[in-house]
Amino acid sequence: MMAWTYLIILMATDRLARLHAVSYSFYKSHDFFHKYPSFTIDERWTNMMKLFLSSLTDCFIKAAEFKKEEYKMLFSTLESNKDALTEKLGDMPTNPKKLKIPCLAHGDYWTNNMMFQYDNDVSTDQMFPPHNIMMIDWGNTMFRDPLLDLQYLIYTSTTLSLRKQHLEEILHHYHSTFTTTTNDLGVRVNNWDFQDFMEDWNNTRYFGCIMGALNNILTLSKAGGKYQKQRGSISSNKFKAKIEIKLSKLLIGPMTKLFLHPSMQKVAVDMMLKPFKKIIMELESCDEKTQSRVFDLFNEAWQQGVFDV
Ligand SMILES: *[C@@H]1O[C@H](CO)[C@@H](O)[C@H](O)[C@H]1NC(C)=O
Repeated sequence: MMAWTYLIILMATDRLARLHAVSYSFYKSHDFFHKYPSFTIDERWTNMMKLFLSSLTDCFIKAAEFKKEEYKMLFSTLESNKDALTEKLGDMPTNPKKLKIPCLAHGDYWTNNMMFQYDNDVSTDQMFPPHNIMMIDWGNTMFRDPLLDLQYLIYTSTTLSLRKQHLEEILHHYHSTFTTTTNDLGVRVNNWDFQDFMEDWNNTRYFGCIMGALNNILTLSKAGGKYQKQRGSISSNKFKAKIEIKLSKLLIGPMTKLFLHPSMQKVAVDMMLKPFKKIIMELESCDEKTQSRVFDLFNEAWQQGVFDV
């Protein structure tokens, strides 16, 4: 199983690097926003993201209270540095002119948003490892720091032991695929050798840790599972379902505009996070696997100095 997971993550990293590299090359050589006006930039997103992360951090600190003794230094450091950490991440610009590597980022790239192509032997029921991956669910795609996608993929979709064994290789693979692809397309990337890339990786680690912890608890905990089921269900009545879909399509534009307004951002983030926070606060009653995934993420980041400022 371990080998399969590694293979999948490597393939997923490969696809991601190509998406980033192709859109980067296109941006550098064409008028991207003329051709694709729907990807216009909204800088208010950065502020929303900051509020989102800092609110989640607060919640995790509270929810981890029951392991206070074991992780004393970790959570007290996080408590004192959380504002500086989110502030630092707040530099994540969405304006392509301010981005070091302006490219299209998927925005929700983890194993649940991939489709796998694999062979199986019907006579023996044997399954073979996937040989192809398709990215799906492009609803959050926008111009932003490509490393946010990579952080999200790694820390939502791998275990600590996989990272210990393979992370370095995966990061090298991402970087070399990005560089080769842009080269093939005739676009030079300046000031982004592996060392520069690693600096950017280190600077976005905090994002990976928090989003990874959130995603793990939403996916693995019982309360999270229940929430996802509810959210995913649409009315079984066909007519009612049609109206629900139409209505949500109609509302989503104006609602987004309203919520992105600076005066509304905090309210919007609180509303968005309310169900998540409830689930996070149940960390103490989660099973051991969920808990260890979450604490692994925090502990690993802590040991790598991610919470130091
Ligand atoms: C990134 O952080 C690690 C600690 O996890 C450190 O060993 C490494 O030197 C850092 N790399 C760069 C390029 O800053």
